[in-house]
Amino acid sequence: MTATKPDLYRDLAAQLKALLAGEPNRIANAANLAALLYHGLPDLNWAGFYFRQRDELVLGPFQGKPACVRIPLGTGVCGTAASRGATVLVRDVHDFPGHIACDPASRSELVVPLIEAGEVSGVLDLDSPLLGRFDGIDQTGCERLVALFVGHHHGNPG
Ligand code: SME
Repeated sequence: MTATKPDLYRDLAAQLKALLAGEPNRIANAANLAALLYHGLPDLNWAGFYFRQRDELVLGPFQGKPACVRIPLGTGVCGTAASRGATVLVRDVHDFPGHIACDPASRSELVVPLIEAGEVSGVLDLDSPLLGRFDGIDQTGCERLVALFVGHHHGNPG
């Protein structure tokens, strides 16, 4: 029997809670979340984090090919999601002005900001080689996973 997409995200949320349990280190937990998503979601070619340092995003833990290290806020899909403080879902990256092509194979992208105490502290970025790979269920599911991640580290500098 094939699990539905909401079922898949429920399962990923349960796995994330188990991975986070008792572990305060943000980099270690981000690395495990990137791996969980890269291997748990079909048709991705990149999954990972950028963390904010002043007016730019700096590459964090990820799975996939090497990527650009620094992205100014407001630039590309990641910098746009960070400056808006809102998720950006791109059906076709060729139609997104300023898209940064780290891997030319990427065709669609989903970027969810990490918002801590009202401030954007980074983004989760998912890329796919398929056109229109991401929909509203992916957006809701990934926003839930990011909320679990951020909530776990709230007030915990580890
Ligand atoms: N495509 C992103 C850059 C990051 S890579 O996809 C890993 C962007 O336009 O912001």
